[in-house]
Amino acid sequence: MNDVVLASETLRGALSGLLDGLPPRQAAGAVERLIANYRGTTPTDAPILRDRADVAAYAAYRMPATFEAVRSALAEFAAAVPGWTPGGHVDVGGGTGAATWAVADTWPGTRPVTVLDWAEPALALGREIAAAHPDLRDATWRRARIGAALALDESDLVTVSYVLGELTAADRAAVVDAAAAAASATGAVVVVEPGTPDGYARIIEARDRLVAAGFRVAAPCPHSAACPIVPGTDWCHFSARVSRSSLHRQVKGGSLAYEDEKFSYVAATRAAAVPAPARVVRRPQIRKGQVLLDLCETDEQLRRRTVTKRHGELYKAARDTDWGDAWPPRDATQDGA
Ligand SMILES: C[S@@+](CC[C@H](N)C(=O)[O-])C[C@H]1O[C@@H](n2cnc3c(N)ncnc32)[C@H](O)[C@@H]1O
Repeated sequence: MNDVVLASETLRGALSGLLDGLPPRQAAGAVERLIANYRGTTPTDAPILRDRADVAAYAAYRMPATFEAVRSALAEFAAAVPGWTPGGHVDVGGGTGAATWAVADTWPGTRPVTVLDWAEPALALGREIAAAHPDLRDATWRRARIGAALALDESDLVTVSYVLGELTAADRAAVVDAAAAAASATGAVVVVEPGTPDGYARIIEARDRLVAAGFRVAAPCPHSAACPIVPGTDWCHFSARVSRSSLHRQVKGGSLAYEDEKFSYVAATRAAAVPAPARVVRRPQIRKGQVLLDLCETDEQLRRRTVTKRHGELYKAARDTDWGDAWPPRDATQDGA
């Protein structure tokens, strides 16, 4: 889709100038400090993103990846709610606004957009970058602390992207409850976390709260019942491809042109949703004449299905299917795999 390429290119262009003027070693140093901070003990009592250098490093280094993860999650959500378009968007713990770019990519057009965060330098930089996108130019960037007192204005879409990991258990519950309370009668809440066992555990916690609040899971799960993964044995996560900038190569070394961002997510809604009949939860294994698909299915089971040449069109579809996709693809004929 041209829109997608253009928007991610616009974002990349807007980000590329951020570290201009900083000697490369200093830029790499800012990123390394940031990574060390994120490895430190969280939650924190004060923002990790304290000044412009921290925020520029975050935006240049992490924002392309969080953008791609949220974009992938929103694409799967959008497929489950055909025709649905958010009339407004609130991004909580939005930082430099990666999720606002992903929403603008998924549903182009202008709408009221509010980004809330406790780190003023992140909001300031987010506002600066957003000036490059016509749909985000008029967004509101406001300081807010996530906690028991958090109250959000009603909105069709509330996103919480890569935030839960920085919060105490009480604040994690508070932000998900506030998001649920703010979502309109046909609204949605989308929560994204790193694709690690801990990130997945936080997503399950959020999913349980959203279901208890009357939401239906639209993606990635094919149902809103309990997750079939036995805690501690595995974790549900997906992968989004991110082009590496020269800063990435500088910090991480090597010359790979891309890296894969692993993420976990839940997209839940009060609108009518048609979740996937099943979800591909691992990279498909393509063998001679057959494709092995690990699926999460509607009956709350994980199953490996083998799709062979005798499945005809479905076999062709299986060869093109990727980790994270709905199965069977929404436009394929099903004949028994
Ligand atoms: C890892 S960043 C994610 C930023 C953005 N959502 C993204 O996906 O790129 C976490 C964000 O959560 C914000 N945050 C953490 N704890 C917070 C709190 N208690 N109240 C408000 N914002 C908070 C941080 O300032 C930071 O911007």
